[in-house]
Amino acid sequence: MRIDILTLLPRLLESPFADSILKRAIEKGLVEVGIHDIRKWSKDKHQKVDDYAFGGGAGMVMTIQPIDDCMEELKEAREYDEVIYMTPDGETLNQQIANELSMKKNIMILCGHYKGVDQRVRDHLVTREISIGDYVLSGGELGAAVLADSIIRLLPGVLNDETSALSDSFQDNLLAPPVYTRPAEYKGWTVPDILRSGNLKAIDDWRHDQAVKRTMERRPDLLEDK
Ligand code: ADE
Repeated sequence: MRIDILTLLPRLLESPFADSILKRAIEKGLVEVGIHDIRKWSKDKHQKVDDYAFGGGAGMVMTIQPIDDCMEELKEAREYDEVIYMTPDGETLNQQIANELSMKKNIMILCGHYKGVDQRVRDHLVTREISIGDYVLSGGELGAAVLADSIIRLLPGVLNDETSALSDSFQDNLLAPPVYTRPAEYKGWTVPDILRSGNLKAIDDWRHDQAVKRTMERRPDLLEDK
């Protein structure tokens, strides 16, 4: 899989891919990530990438030309399954969307800034709009990093234990059960006996019960979706 991210702030997207799971996924060749500074495609003599809004009002709007030219160049090299624009008024990211996108071959993610991008970018160049939640960020970069992380960790071979993405919260519409590690007792706080019983069937049943209980308490809406 390949993910290309178009941004005005490429440095904001360096560290999420420079460590841990995402770094290893890239090193293993399981995913390619390209970060593209939109400014490089600006034909303006001062490399401007934004302008005042037609009709007035506060805030600058990202212009279409550098975005279109950057996208065109990328599209010459390969076909894209989705061109995603990160925006608070997009569909809210969830595990199902991450699962779906993890099966695509090439995706582009456009990060907005200022008052957003010229509407014609959204109308003609973008295929899908995604929000990471009902709050407004300074730009789409952190959202793009969240989206890319949620996708990449699902790619086969990225997680060491292949089953561990399957036991994540939200897979099967259930939150994940509690987990414990050593020591078995700390300050008098103990680990449930069943987890130390060695009875794998009983442990599995306990984990499922706990997942259902936690989901009912914290996110009953997830159970209603079923
Ligand atoms: N850009 C600004 N706010 C955002 C959000 N909540 N999700 C995605 N992109 C954004």
